[in-house]
Amino acid sequence: MKNTVTTFQNAKINNEKLTMLTAYDYSTAKLIDEAGVNSILVGDSLGMVMLGYEDTLSVTMEDMIHHGAAVSRGAKNALVVIDMPFMSYQTSVYDAVVNAGRLMKEARGGAVKLEGGTDMAPQIEAIVKASIPVVGHIGLTPQSVNAFGGFKVQGKDEDTARKLLDDAKAVENAGAFAVVLECVPAKLAKLISDKISIPTIGIGAGNGCDGQVLVYQDMLGMYSNFTPKFVKKYAELGLNMKKAFENYIKEVQSGVFPEKDHTFAISDDVISKLY
Ligand code: KIV
Repeated sequence: MKNTVTTFQNAKINNEKLTMLTAYDYSTAKLIDEAGVNSILVGDSLGMVMLGYEDTLSVTMEDMIHHGAAVSRGAKNALVVIDMPFMSYQTSVYDAVVNAGRLMKEARGGAVKLEGGTDMAPQIEAIVKASIPVVGHIGLTPQSVNAFGGFKVQGKDEDTARKLLDDAKAVENAGAFAVVLECVPAKLAKLISDKISIPTIGIGAGNGCDGQVLVYQDMLGMYSNFTPKFVKKYAELGLNMKKAFENYIKEVQSGVFPEKDHTFAISDDVISKLY
């Protein structure tokens, strides 16, 4: 069944957990969609896991449109949420609406996600007014890595915990239909989830959230540069892929591949006429 913003609202009301995974290309999106996930996030994490940058800051609107469109073609039932990249919405409310509109028109997403709480409420409100569903994202917001002084758990003391609760309420009041909580202590994430009426989607925020999201390369063991504490590896595809690549190289070098089954035939008669 097609997942929509209504699916998210109903899940919160009925206390049903929501599932979200990232994808950045058609084939992966199709597999994840067929597995039955509620939502696919085209995260700006693609800067790291797909493009090899050290953070998300260099990701452009063109990157997000290119990958977002591929994912939208592969996802039949999952709600596709596309990240707004760094500086595509922080600069002004006008930029935020124009760029959110591009992600819907050109990449055919079902919703956009942007980072920030109270400070970004005007942007969220304006995008929602333009009939574009918005997912908020608070806690460790990777686009603010330089302001945070690194990738760190957020909201550990009273002031910052209170600020996170205020941010979650601001995102909700601005009209977002869900909010990602990234790297937030589990008890605080549970409290926030209890205090707002929109679903919280946790990543490194414990199981008191209304749903969970993971970067697919992390959960499949395909990204070896860094594995955050909150990641559970559901497979070690990276090791298996490497083994398969090594086998292929060996078999090509030794002449084992391709075998007869992998080749096309022609009659010897035709060949003999060419000599
Ligand atoms: O970019 C991304 O993949 C994200 C998730 C980590 C929530 O924002």
